[in-house]
Amino acid sequence: MASVLLTRRIPSSVLTLLQTEHTVDLYSGDGAIPRDEMLRRLVGKDALICLLTDKVDAAVLDAAAALKVIANIAVGYDNIDVAAARQRGIVVTNTPDVLTEAVAEFTWALILGIARRVSEGDRLIRAGAWKGWALDFMLGMELRGKQLGIIGGGRIGRAVAAKAPAFGMTAVFARRDMALDELLVTSDVISIHAPGTPETRHLINKRTLARMKRSALLVNTARGSIVDEEALAWALGERLIAGAALDVYEREPAIHPELKNHENVLLAPHLGSATRETRTAMAELAVRNVFAVLKGEDPLTPVN
Ligand code: DGY
Repeated sequence: MASVLLTRRIPSSVLTLLQTEHTVDLYSGDGAIPRDEMLRRLVGKDALICLLTDKVDAAVLDAAAALKVIANIAVGYDNIDVAAARQRGIVVTNTPDVLTEAVAEFTWALILGIARRVSEGDRLIRAGAWKGWALDFMLGMELRGKQLGIIGGGRIGRAVAAKAPAFGMTAVFARRDMALDELLVTSDVISIHAPGTPETRHLINKRTLARMKRSALLVNTARGSIVDEEALAWALGERLIAGAALDVYEREPAIHPELKNHENVLLAPHLGSATRETRTAMAELAVRNVFAVLKGEDPLTPVN
């Protein structure tokens, strides 16, 4: 039996599956495993099953000389120094496909929520401020006939686009259908589905926000690093765009304080893949990747 460090509790059926083949060292504290605890517990481990909140850098890898596989329970892997792992012959895997629909559904929840001011209305009622129905009260933006600009043409971006016709929207992709600049200028809703990399960092900044329509809505369910939150707060303050719906942030769980002051910002706590079905499937895929690598087989979903 090999030994696996698991940095967070996973559904019990999946934990049992893992325990049938390997010895599991489960971190069961609240929140993310502290770095020193991870360094200590990784010594002698063959596998690490971790989350996007666990930073796995070269120093962590140096503490884990026996490590053969890092299975991230997330499709994004910007928390892992993949190059450093590769240098040490450690396989890195992620969890694509199984979360595509959940994230696409949640993206539409945000698009509809910000376009029709759902969270704003909820806040208003709870504050006891609703005076009753009125013809011109809390009007939102209709989606039918509008353009959905998608940044990131991977699985999730494509799944979001596939649902656009149901709302009468035309989906266009940056680079495939038009240059990013044209997409920014012409789209009514802009939804981000790119990975968090050094190249995409602050892709949405003061300059790109200023290119957007004043009536446009920005949605981000990808990675917080892609949007410069300071610039977004500025653009909202200057009314350069009409609103934003965010599920991810630059310094989670911290959020730029000014974003909370705007009624036209919908804030979600990184819930894109958070359904029971999907989180179970993600955990199981991570476990199966560990099984494969520790048996000397090819991983199911390696990070290349
Ligand atoms: C991911 O998988 O990368 C998401 O951000 C978390 O579900």
